[in-house]
Amino acid sequence: MKSAMPDKRIDADAILNRALPLTNQHALEIQPYGHLVKLPIALSEAACRQGVENLNQVLADTITLRDLYKKHHWQVAGPTFHQLHLLFDRHHEQQSELVDAIAERIQLLGGVSLAMAHDVAETTLIPRPPKGREEVPVQIARLLHAHEIVLKEARTMARLAAEAGDEGTNDLFVSNVIRTNELQVWFLAEHLVDAPLVHAE
Ligand SMILES: [Fe+2]
Repeated sequence: MKSAMPDKRIDADAILNRALPLTNQHALEIQPYGHLVKLPIALSEAACRQGVENLNQVLADTITLRDLYKKHHWQVAGPTFHQLHLLFDRHHEQQSELVDAIAERIQLLGGVSLAMAHDVAETTLIPRPPKGREEVPVQIARLLHAHEIVLKEARTMARLAAEAGDEGTNDLFVSNVIRTNELQVWFLAEHLVDAPLVHAE
């Protein structure tokens, strides 16, 4: 006669299987890079497409500028070491916040944001620095050049976003990207003024 009792060993195996992580999974992308999905944000597809393309360019350049700040934070040398070490790190953090805001706006416009270093390196307009260390004036000049690239494109892209009726993207460019970069340029550029330290000229 068959027992009415359930097989406890089999039940335990089934339960354990449910807790087993399903590693090694592969599938096609759900949204290839460069393709848009339509979100209900009352913006035309053309406006979203233009915004996504422009924001991805600024994203690549902002990620590069952010990383350039960390490189200089680590590699800075000389009598202003501590001051610049801290300043470079503060600017790195502010650029990091910009990166997140730009990338998330790309996603909310229905696009796909760039993310990985290889893709950023292919896209950025900022010249590649050497792997080695550079003198402070060269570090600062390199950062200023990178800021100017970002500011130039961001101003043009802000105007284009406003013309397309994309006020949110325009605001991100003006209130966040442009203002942050302008302020950081001021903080950097004053370090390249050849002002006397002890004796007035
Ligand atoms: Fe640090």
